[in-house]
Amino acid sequence: MQTTVTTSIRRAAGILRAGGLVAFPTETVYGLGAHAMDEAAVAGIFEAKARPPDNPLIVHVAHRSMIEQLTPDPGDPARRLMDAFFPGPVTLVLPASVAVPRNVTAGLDTVAVRMPDHPTAHALLAEVELPVAAPSANRSGRPSPTTWQAVFEDMNGRIPCILKGRAVRVGLESTVVDCSGRVPKVLRLGAVSCEMLREVCPEIRLAGTGDDTSASPGMKHRHYAPRAQVVLVDHADDVSGADRGDAGFIGLHRPAGRAFARQTVCSSVTMYARRLFSFFRSCDEHRLRVVYCERVSPEGLGRALMDRLVRAEAAHSIPPSGSGTARG
Ligand code: TXA
Ligand code: MG
Repeated sequence: MQTTVTTSIRRAAGILRAGGLVAFPTETVYGLGAHAMDEAAVAGIFEAKARPPDNPLIVHVAHRSMIEQLTPDPGDPARRLMDAFFPGPVTLVLPASVAVPRNVTAGLDTVAVRMPDHPTAHALLAEVELPVAAPSANRSGRPSPTTWQAVFEDMNGRIPCILKGRAVRVGLESTVVDCSGRVPKVLRLGAVSCEMLREVCPEIRLAGTGDDTSASPGMKHRHYAPRAQVVLVDHADDVSGADRGDAGFIGLHRPAGRAFARQTVCSSVTMYARRLFSFFRSCDEHRLRVVYCERVSPEGLGRALMDRLVRAEAAHSIPPSGSGTARG
């Protein structure tokens, strides 16, 4: 299959309407979209990504009115969260309507819904006038793509179209909040922080803390990791000069002494989050052995960034695909 890279919203919308796949930018990462109410189109996403079928998809909408066909009733906490954070980098898990195909929800009775805050994503969703199911546009198990080139690297020949647009702003995937139960729960950390969520929804909890062991189905899969081994450090100076020759470094402070084979010094946590996944990919491209990542203070966006870093570090201790729990 020939993969076309385009800036034409109309062309991309035409492909989606006809049941084809289109990768498109959002403010978090690039998504790989399909007509969400078309089960066969959605099946194409799982095939192109080699995604495990037990991992449900997020449905993207341009307007609040498009949510009506996805859920019978979002409930009060979800309405408050939508008022505060839609459009934006947050996903709400809601009771699903029967009309939502089973492969979108992976057989659950809930559906994840998000309204992206990115001009290209919004223009595409508004033009196509359909809800669009879209996971991150990486091959399963690889870091999420934050540039069209990263999508091309993973998806060339596997999908008909990549819509390019303005660069992503956040660089980490959206915050996922489960609003289907009695108390809303954060399933995945992102740019909308726990502090921000609590301002609108003081009762909100973080899944997997205290006696709560629930989590998003996707969180059990191998995630966010480059092929190189990720090692977290408090400071670049913790790494000896001898270990820097075939290693990368990303962090907030410039390493003293010998330079790393590749290094990115970020001026803020925001910049660090935005650059992390493309830095992972460039380290793999240069076949580096290790990527050293400086720890950050786990507050606000820093907490989401630390979540991804810790998962990337742990990924090499998780067995690769084929043995049950691997790859997401
Ligand atoms: O920022 C993002 O969220 C990006 C852009 C493209 O929107 N999308 C994204 O999708 O990261 P994906 O598929 O890579 O991650 C979706 C996460 C997974 O952890 C999945 O398990 C969870 O959302 N999820 C989806 N539907 C769910 C549901 N019904 N219940 C619980 N978790 C759900
Ligand atoms: Mg993903």
